[in-house]
Amino acid sequence: MRSGASGVPALPLDHPALLHERTLRELGPHATRFALEVVAECGSTNDELSLAATRTDERIAVLVALHQRAGRGRRGRAWHAGDGLTFSCAWPIAPDAPPPSALSLAAGLAVAEAIEDLGVRDVALKWPNDVLVDGRKIAGILVELVSGQRHTQRAIIGIGANLGSVPDYPPDGGRPATAIARHLPAAPAIETALATILVRLAARLDAFAAGGFAAMQHDWSQRDAFAGHMVRIDGEGASRSGRCEGVDADGALRLATASGIERILSGELSLRSAA
Ligand code: ATP
Ligand code: BTN
Repeated sequence: MRSGASGVPALPLDHPALLHERTLRELGPHATRFALEVVAECGSTNDELSLAATRTDERIAVLVALHQRAGRGRRGRAWHAGDGLTFSCAWPIAPDAPPPSALSLAAGLAVAEAIEDLGVRDVALKWPNDVLVDGRKIAGILVELVSGQRHTQRAIIGIGANLGSVPDYPPDGGRPATAIARHLPAAPAIETALATILVRLAARLDAFAAGGFAAMQHDWSQRDAFAGHMVRIDGEGASRSGRCEGVDADGALRLATASGIERILSGELSLRSAA
């Protein structure tokens, strides 16, 4: 049995079939939206789901691993799940869907909302893909696009959420981390956390399919941890500094520099405080 940060037994589930059953129960009427699979362990849920056969129905395929051996972040970095929830969702991208570049922002917003539903306050977002509490990363999102047969495309939306406990700093010396249990009397049950995130995610994906990121730009901006701050954008061979002016209707970061406003599209880029 895993234990939460406060010593409270937090995640009493270590059997895939039990987690599957309890999650469906938690989802209630929303369960029909998802094709849920829970495995005891795998390398990376993103990799496993990318390789899985394309579904022909409308449901969102979800793969949860109780233990993920080789979780990935962006740019080949590692995700160390600790006492956390690791899963991926496969979302079929309709041919007439808005460009998927801002999907990781939509997914991040959904995860932030879900973590607040679980009782944590002031959940913020860091462009493009991190969910923060008190400036520390509580969840990360990795969205990858996969091509299927006959020009179909799916987005694989990988989510790692720290539930019970996590080291203050990741083993690679990255930025500080936190976990949901640090902000609540006890960690939520894993099935509650999973179902809460899935319900929020499905709602934001529906909205994204209908209206793209523009429909949620305001809600994302309300949680923007860096709006108005001096920041540095690193990656893709160059570093740019300026004042963060939030995100636009496409999910691009607006950076005020000496030469005017630059629009920065989410790619393999990292935002850092310049202070
Ligand atoms: P950025 O998103 O700005 O590029 P990042 O440091 O968040 O910066 P990502 O690639 O998004 O980089 O995330 C991967 C990083 O997340 C890892 O390099 C590691 O430092 C950190 N990390 C790994 N596991 C966890 C975890 N469970 N909780 C918080 N952070 C983690
Ligand atoms: C990041 O912060 O860079 C993103 C981390 C994403 C981690 C999740 S855990 C489930 C899924 N499988 C992976 O290999 N990565 C994502």
